[in-house]
Amino acid sequence: MNGPDFSLTGRVAVITGGAGLLGVRHAEAIAASGGVPVLADIRADEAETYAASIAAAYGVPAAGVACDITRAESVQALLDSVLSRFGRVDVLVNNAANNPKVESPKQDFSRLERFTIEQWNADLAVGLTGAFLCARIIGTAMARQKRGVIINISSEYGVIAPDQRLYRKSGLADDEQPVKPVTYTVVKAGLHGLTMYLATYWADHGVRVNTITLGGVESGQPAEFLERAAAKIPMGRMARPTDFQGALVYLCSDAAAFVTGANVVVDGGKTIW
Ligand SMILES: NC(=O)c1ccc[n+]([C@@H]2O[C@H](COP(=O)([O-])OP(=O)(O)OC[C@H]3O[C@@H](n4cnc5c(N)ncnc54)[C@H](O)[C@@H]3O)[C@@H](O)[C@H]2O)c1
Repeated sequence: MNGPDFSLTGRVAVITGGAGLLGVRHAEAIAASGGVPVLADIRADEAETYAASIAAAYGVPAAGVACDITRAESVQALLDSVLSRFGRVDVLVNNAANNPKVESPKQDFSRLERFTIEQWNADLAVGLTGAFLCARIIGTAMARQKRGVIINISSEYGVIAPDQRLYRKSGLADDEQPVKPVTYTVVKAGLHGLTMYLATYWADHGVRVNTITLGGVESGQPAEFLERAAAKIPMGRMARPTDFQGALVYLCSDAAAFVTGANVVVDGGKTIW
């Protein structure tokens, strides 16, 4: 029978930030398609707990592995542990990032004028340097075996600038209003640059590299924020954590065999409005 092949049977997928809100959903999507998710996170206990429950729910092997993606030796140890445990690595999802919840109450936020070099370095270390190190170390192993998939998880704020009016709080002076930090846009725009570079670099080594651009996810924000955010989205709501699973499985699978360097936007139409 001819037709697209969306199966991930037996494919081993490393998901950085695997214990986070969306990392767990990415892992579930891989497992539901027959793949073997490896949840790599600095929060090792949570990663192991989620991996165990995914393995039980989907009947596939899964692992939680402690990893700090800002350190090359930690990423190398992650790769070594995946290869010794499963004997292969097929997919890398660069998902970990510092993701400050500006819209939450009590968020102590730095405006651009006060944004410290320490915060800048910390955000770039996880979001960009971490993605680079994972691509260099795990992607090189894939290029050597002439097969692999890398997915960089970006955001609508890699394509459009944050509308800071969304985050305004009443009762605060203009220069005290919270803003989405500059690093978020820089990291997320940079990730698609990494995608394009790697996609061409490894195009003849069987490694496909793509970006998924996510719209903002509803996750307990105040009602006033949700209303303002939804009004800016053609489909009239923020994303659900499961909204990205179809795009992830597609890009990981052989159904996307000719797709590389693409930016797949899953945002309810927000960035076209
Ligand atoms: N939640 C959203 O609304 C949204 C929207 C668009 C894009 N995104 C992107 O999706 C991805 C996941 O977001 P999320 O909402 O699940 O965030 P999250 O904060 O829930 O998860 C991030 C995970 O990364 C881990 N992490 C942080 N530093 C690390 C390091 N040095 N090494 C390894 N792991 C580390 C954290 O422990 C955490 O488990 C991020 O790249 C984020 O920018 C999220």
